[in-house]
Amino acid sequence: MKALVLAGGKGTRLRPLTHTSAKQLVPVANKPVLFYGLEALRDAGITSVGIVVGDTGAEVREAVGDGSRFGLEVTYIPQEAPLGLAHCVLIAGDFLGEDPFVLYLGDNFLVGGIADLVESFGGAGHDAQILLTKVAEPQFYGVAELGPGGEILALEEKPEHPRSDLAIVGVYTFSPAIHEAVRAITPSARGELEITDAIKWLIDHGYRVHSHFVSGYWKDTGRLQDILECNRIVLEAIEPDNRGTVDTLSEISGNVVVAPGAFVENSVIRGPAVIGTGTRISDSYIGPYTSIGESCLIEDAEVEYAIVLRDSTIKGISRLTYSLIGRNVEVTRAEGVPNAHQLMVGDHSRVQVKA
Ligand code: TTP
Repeated sequence: MKALVLAGGKGTRLRPLTHTSAKQLVPVANKPVLFYGLEALRDAGITSVGIVVGDTGAEVREAVGDGSRFGLEVTYIPQEAPLGLAHCVLIAGDFLGEDPFVLYLGDNFLVGGIADLVESFGGAGHDAQILLTKVAEPQFYGVAELGPGGEILALEEKPEHPRSDLAIVGVYTFSPAIHEAVRAITPSARGELEITDAIKWLIDHGYRVHSHFVSGYWKDTGRLQDILECNRIVLEAIEPDNRGTVDTLSEISGNVVVAPGAFVENSVIRGPAVIGTGTRISDSYIGPYTSIGESCLIEDAEVEYAIVLRDSTIKGISRLTYSLIGRNVEVTRAEGVPNAHQLMVGDHSRVQVKA
């Protein structure tokens, strides 16, 4: 069994971060989302992984390398433009050959892993297995309609009147039959080769397409609120581990990871939270569900329920919450300018100030 991990795409919902950086590398508890997926594949016994990359390919290659540190052998498959999930399967034909494979969307986050999905596919003789989960608002997802034996009868993309509450999660298993399907379909109205069309093609041509239910928590991390929620879920399970320097004036409570080389002085940290290597927290409050990346400076500030990427500075701010701060960002007090905010923000940024 091989795996095809998709780490290209446009990432429009996470702009401006995705103007300069791969959305699959946004960190959750200071580890890129993509790494959780690669670890899940390895834990399911897969070693041969193809990663589809787009404009941000260089960054993904730098982060993942040859895959050996995950126990994987990684092959990179460049996609010239984000032409759809089925297009990714099309261009990966040579890599996949006649092997069955897992298709894993690189921005998806699954807590329970995929070992049971991979195992059940091996013995069942299906041509496709689609991972599903019950959701409260199926109209915002791809939705599956099931037959009595768990076989998939129909798939609908964001239906106005959903026929079930079973949403398609971004993990699938396929037999080589999918290659014929992705060659047969044509681009959708939005100009993409859709994986749902390829799966419909399989159903229409009598192939066995079956459902499999997610065993744990799942989230597509395409939007800010989803990333922050994943961060919360992962932080809830961390064990305290202080390898940095915390002075005697500081107070740490709850589960907090302070990485080696981090320095905490005259501050309060209420876990769960992680503080990255080389980061300095001075005269500040770090609240629950916060991940501060490496080499940041948090000074005279309060930060809670937030993700701060590396090399950023937050100074003289009270209080920053529900926020995703990119790399090398400065958020500081506008000294000497009464009642005014001074901003220089990138394209597609979102700033909400409490005036
Ligand atoms: P999506 O989240 O559906 O698409 P997107 O990345 O373009 O994001 P947005 O909707 O915010 O603009 O893609 C799912 C995953 O598949 C994601 O990790 C990106 C990847 N992908 C590719 O690698 N190639 C593609 O052609 C597409 C459409 C997605």
